[in-house]
Amino acid sequence: MGVAIDYLLLRALFATIILFGVAHGAKPIFVFGDSYVDTGNRNYSEAPWRNPYGITWPGHPSGRFSNGLLLTDFVAKAMKSKSPTPYRFYTKYSRSLRDVVKHGLNFGVGGSGVFQAFDPRNFSVQVDQLKGVLQTIPQQLFPLEHTPVLVSFVGNDYRYYLATNGTLKELPVYITKVVTEVTRNIIRLYGLGLKRFVVGNIEPLGCVPSLTASVSYKRCLTTYDPLVQFHNQLLAQQLNATFTALKGADYFILDQYKAFQSVIANPSPFGIKHRLRPCCTPKPGNIDSCGEVDKNGEPLYEVCSSPETHFFWDGLHPTQAGWTALTSSSFVGGNSPHNKSANLATWLQNEPTS
Ligand SMILES: *[C@@H]1O[C@H](CO)[C@@H](O)[C@H](O)[C@H]1NC(C)=O
Ligand SMILES: *[C@@H]1O[C@H](CO)[C@@H](O)[C@H](O)[C@H]1NC(C)=O
Ligand SMILES: *[C@@H]1O[C@H](CO)[C@@H](O)[C@H](O)[C@H]1NC(C)=O
Ligand SMILES: *[C@@H]1O[C@H](CO)[C@@H](O)[C@H](O)[C@H]1NC(C)=O
Repeated sequence: MGVAIDYLLLRALFATIILFGVAHGAKPIFVFGDSYVDTGNRNYSEAPWRNPYGITWPGHPSGRFSNGLLLTDFVAKAMKSKSPTPYRFYTKYSRSLRDVVKHGLNFGVGGSGVFQAFDPRNFSVQVDQLKGVLQTIPQQLFPLEHTPVLVSFVGNDYRYYLATNGTLKELPVYITKVVTEVTRNIIRLYGLGLKRFVVGNIEPLGCVPSLTASVSYKRCLTTYDPLVQFHNQLLAQQLNATFTALKGADYFILDQYKAFQSVIANPSPFGIKHRLRPCCTPKPGNIDSCGEVDKNGEPLYEVCSSPETHFFWDGLHPTQAGWTALTSSSFVGGNSPHNKSANLATWLQNEPTS
């Protein structure tokens, strides 16, 4: 009985709170994806909650796979808003509910893919989590059609596929399945009432330090270029076709491929001196060991002295400086047929034209 009453009170409180939040111009966003967007959904025992993650900001690990801020934080900034609450903390708040949801929620989790990858919380599970939330929050009070969605899955499906028994020969078929699963979930989100989508394509996979370590971080590997190009082309095509049918909806392709290419080709305007060598490197004999210690507590990694001069932080992820550079360049223009000349920051602040 007590539980039931509390629940009703909570709902009423939520309704008031959300109205208040909206009336005062809070700008929520919902985020789906992997470690490039995750701001704290991994468990406390895991790497992004261990040193040296977060050394630049906030000065201790924050659950981000970065030395500081990452994509989600910069997108929130572009909206003149704050980073959304990681879903893991949604029900574990000590702050008021209004404070918890007014900037939206982040369902993205490191290691995930749209299919089975290194974390089981695939895109569809993340969408189910939002669905669950919306069943608790009175929907008519939440400005769903004005709330942008950021979707960024950047290759864990392929890393997992190749790390298990996937063959290169069957890869094109798998790529088609992956892209179709991305659009299928975007359609599900549209079905929940969401209308504004920022969709990231995938970065040049062969440039990540865990792969370029084999060539002493001297150049990007080209092995994966056809995969990446096919994925990105297909994604652009499917989005174009899909959104033609989604009434009142719009999208913006966050061209991470172009952004990575352009920053890696010309990093100096951003104060970046090391394009491919990450700041946090494995000690000899280790692979991807940033955040790992041996049984005596000795780090299995080394941290550079100036993270702000490195584009990459660890084996897979950009530094805060890297994300600053990436977002300043990819924010310059979108390439969806709907908004060729728009800049993401402007697009995010504009109302949809339905
Ligand atoms: C993270 O914690 C949750 C809840 O404690 C647990 O169910 C889950 O298995 C953990 N995940 C991993 C990857 O350890
Ligand atoms: C996502 O994970 C859920 C739960 O494990 C599973 O039921 C579902 O089939 C998965 N979806 C895809 C597309 O793999
Ligand atoms: C590996 O191959 C087998 C047989 O082709 C298949 O049933 C299985 O799903 C594959 N495993 C993975 C992880 O792809
Ligand atoms: C988008 O789709 C339309 C047809 O619906 C087509 O004419 C156009 O060329 C497509 N644009 C791109 C960039 O694929």
